[in-house]
Amino acid sequence: MSDPVLAVAGVGKTFPGVRALADVSLEVAAGEVVALVGENGAGKSTLLKILCGDYDLDEGRVRLAGREVSHASPFEARQAGFRLVRQEPEIVPDISAAENVFVGEYPRRRLGRVDHRAMRALMLGQLERYGFAGMVDPDALGRTLSPAQMHLVEIVRALKPGMKVVAFDEPTSSLTSDEVARLFALIRQLRAEGLGIIYVSHRLKEVLAISDRVVVLKDGRVTGSLRTRETDEDEIVRLMVGRELVHDFRRDETTRPEVVLEVEGLWSRWHRDVSFRIRAGEILGFGGLVGAGRTELAKVIFGEFPHSRGTIRILGRERTIRSPADAIASDIGFAPENRKAEGLILVRSVIENASMAVYRRLSRWGLLRDRMMLERVGPVIRALDVKTPSLAQEVSKLSGGNQQKVVLSRWLAAGPRLLILDEPTRAVDVGAKAEIYRLIDRLARDGMAIMLISSEMPELLALSDRIVVMANGRLSPVIEKKDATEEMIVSHALGKGLAA
Ligand SMILES: Nc1ncnc2c1ncn2[C@@H]1O[C@H](COP(=O)(O)OP(=O)(O)OP(=O)(O)O)[C@@H](O)[C@H]1O
Ligand SMILES: [Mg+2]
Repeated sequence: MSDPVLAVAGVGKTFPGVRALADVSLEVAAGEVVALVGENGAGKSTLLKILCGDYDLDEGRVRLAGREVSHASPFEARQAGFRLVRQEPEIVPDISAAENVFVGEYPRRRLGRVDHRAMRALMLGQLERYGFAGMVDPDALGRTLSPAQMHLVEIVRALKPGMKVVAFDEPTSSLTSDEVARLFALIRQLRAEGLGIIYVSHRLKEVLAISDRVVVLKDGRVTGSLRTRETDEDEIVRLMVGRELVHDFRRDETTRPEVVLEVEGLWSRWHRDVSFRIRAGEILGFGGLVGAGRTELAKVIFGEFPHSRGTIRILGRERTIRSPADAIASDIGFAPENRKAEGLILVRSVIENASMAVYRRLSRWGLLRDRMMLERVGPVIRALDVKTPSLAQEVSKLSGGNQQKVVLSRWLAAGPRLLILDEPTRAVDVGAKAEIYRLIDRLARDGMAIMLISSEMPELLALSDRIVVMANGRLSPVIEKKDATEEMIVSHALGKGLAA
């Protein structure tokens, strides 16, 4: 083999209380896609942040295209040709998509004026060239972009002349299957152009589809380097988790007669005449394509978005819900999909974030409250296996998947009567996923009503007692668990109803 374009040798990194990487070595050849997999907190993002110059390494060496870049600054890493598509896109809300793409390197006219027209044209050219034509409006403000569009902006921003190695950190967690297909086409194109690619993902099927080699990290160490053609999901999971996992999560029906949520004739900007009920102990699954209006429905019920007509009843009583505070007072909890923007206060500790919803219900006396908080929240955080040196750790310092677990733990600990979960296992590793399924099952068993929005078909089918599918702001008839199949859900999602 020719010299690798990227060579990482014996890299170690320690944060206060956390050994994030220990003696990590890996190589990427030109024209090779190397997948990097591992549980939440295994060290994947940390390695990429070292490569792009965000963090300095404690031990080891990094060479890129023959150049020593072990202690490179972000600028030097970029100059050397390393590009990172981040797990959490960094989007400035008040500037346009095009300005986001060219932050720090705006094309200018004479006298230094920013050339907006050139910028727009450059971005359109990039989108076209990489197969994303028409998917993001260059003039749209950052804050109006969907999570998928934010990811596209992040991708286009990374791909600029001079790149030699491009790393994608969990790029598909907010993309639809069509967008994933386009991204894969792009990665194959980059590979054919002779770039080295690092691909980080929890979706092992995607990993097997796109990579040439799989490197497994566990607790900051490399536990395997496998040729993709010669391995399979089971082997990878074993190396990641160190044990076999139960693949099929099946739950028994736990629905009770009492109706917790009843939505009747609801209309809004996004919805047309939506009606459904969720009973105590029932998990009602919401299928549909990204953009069909499921997240918006969750936000209408939680009081974040308005509705123009229709009634919402909780336990038989009609409620006026105009804000999340109203919703919480009506015993509704909501774990949103977009955790960074909506779910967490990043500069606060794990325990504070996890307790936010319990707080209200507990005693007013400080000390007692703190103790009760620990008693309620501590076990949930442990059950979810949140990887953190302590409960006082700032949430921003947790790995992406562990942040997701903190968002969930908040509501799991608070125990509302109705819990809305929007993509609850997005970016969560396989082990934690099983843990989250068990917790959701337990909550339903205890009588909580659960509205589950999920784009992962196996998850929807495994957890739901009943399923409805949203297409174009309307709901399909209720599908009973025993009748539900992937095919049926997809055909409803495409607005085709039941195939005759
Ligand atoms: N800035 C930081 N300060 C302190 N600890 C950190 C920091 N960044 C990461 N860590 C810790 O280092 C470990 C590795 O985190 P990292 O983000 O690399 O995991 P990951 O493999 O990317 O996980 P995920 O799949 O959840 O994204 C974790 O225990 C994390 O809490
Ligand atoms: Mg990560």
